[in-house]
Amino acid sequence: IRERTLVAVKPDGVQRRLIGDVIKRFEQRGFRLVGLKMLQASDKLLAQHYISLRKKPFYSSLLYYMTSGPVVAMVWEGHNVVRSSRMLVGDTDPAEASPGTIRGDFSVHISRNVVHASDSVEGAEREISLWFQSSELVDWEGCD
Ligand code: CMP
Repeated sequence: IRERTLVAVKPDGVQRRLIGDVIKRFEQRGFRLVGLKMLQASDKLLAQHYISLRKKPFYSSLLYYMTSGPVVAMVWEGHNVVRSSRMLVGDTDPAEASPGTIRGDFSVHISRNVVHASDSVEGAEREISLWFQSSELVDWEGCD
């Protein structure tokens, strides 16, 4: 199944110069980059992105962290990319993330976990449409 997912290098990942490492892992796995931009995320965008977390005690600190610097948003395409991305990224809590995953290799705390990846196909569609205009996504062919 060819799918798309939203992956974002969070402000701590950008500040720690990890953008290239994140891209490298998705490229070497064989996924196709179809959208890429750096932006300072607005509270409005993040409120929509994290709508399901709005009642959580960490919600305001999450928005503060996510607006503390630029984010690099990406759309990756490929076979089962949603599920595979979650495996590449590792558990939300870096303490639970296996070595070899992005979080397992680069982070220690759940509130600064370097990267985001959509958790379902429906979530990915919703998030991609929040972060990208369809004109910003590029269809291109390559070997899968
Ligand atoms: P992510 O899975 O990308 O999206 C939700 C984010 O909320 C998650 O990454 C963490 O950055 C953050 N988060 C989840 N649980 C906690 C928590 N208990 N404390 C602080 N931040 C959290």
